[in-house]
Amino acid sequence: MNSEIKGIILAGGFATRLYPSTLVTSKQLLPVYDRPMIFYPLNTLIKAGIKDILIIVTPEHSGDFINLLGSLLENYGITLSFKVQSRPGGLPEAFILGENHIDNHNVALILGDNIFEDDFGSIIKTFQSGGHVFAKKVSDPERFGVVKFNQSSKAELIVEKPTEFVSDYAITGLYLYDHHVVQAAKDLQPSGRGELEIVDLHNYYLRQNQLQVTVFEGAWMDAGTHDSLLEASNLVKQRGIYQKFDPIIKEATKEFCEFRKKCIKQ
Ligand code: TTP
Repeated sequence: MNSEIKGIILAGGFATRLYPSTLVTSKQLLPVYDRPMIFYPLNTLIKAGIKDILIIVTPEHSGDFINLLGSLLENYGITLSFKVQSRPGGLPEAFILGENHIDNHNVALILGDNIFEDDFGSIIKTFQSGGHVFAKKVSDPERFGVVKFNQSSKAELIVEKPTEFVSDYAITGLYLYDHHVVQAAKDLQPSGRGELEIVDLHNYYLRQNQLQVTVFEGAWMDAGTHDSLLEASNLVKQRGIYQKFDPIIKEATKEFCEFRKKCIKQ
């Protein structure tokens, strides 16, 4: 294992629950309060010290992502690269598409529509091997993959969108894995809906006693529906999340905006 941890942002998908807003643009480019959604997962990774990040996008919107982010961080020691996912095949596909990027490094995968208030830097920087995921208590567990803990608070099982109550701790969209995750993802079988399921990957690591689950308290939003998108904007404003961005992102965004203003004046 090489000690530098790589980042991946999964920013493809169909985003049908946000129709008609996403008929001609990507969910992760829609605004959350004062900036495109993708800045939030990007910030989570950069705040954790990750310097090499792969962004997985759809074929239709790849140009927009490159226009926005292609040169944004090039003077700030952060490498952003892009890969197209031709069709959404499930979250674990990120590890397969990211095989060369991951190589023999650990990897932090974050979903492009997940907004976290907390800073996960200390856990990410000390992550060694196996897997580590983050759970948050929710009022609507049937919408998520949830983790069942045993009496000693050890994770026992993760169940995707349970129809009967299992637990109200949702697994959120930030996943740390060692490089063996690439092979584990390749070995998965598609589910009934024809996708590779991240819950199968978590359970694979869990069965080997290699998955750690940390419960966190800070705000978390999965901004994939009209209501949660609106709630995400409100939350970002109320909690001042937009003010707590990493200085690198703040500075780079300011520079980019100034540059565009200058171009307009010319
Ligand atoms: P989802 O919200 O599960 O899927 P979606 O974005 O396509 O939305 P909808 O259900 O409304 O059609 O995806 C979670 C995140 O992962 C989101 O940022 C999109 C991304 N994603 C991919 O990039 N590729 C994929 O194959 C899948 C399933 C999701």
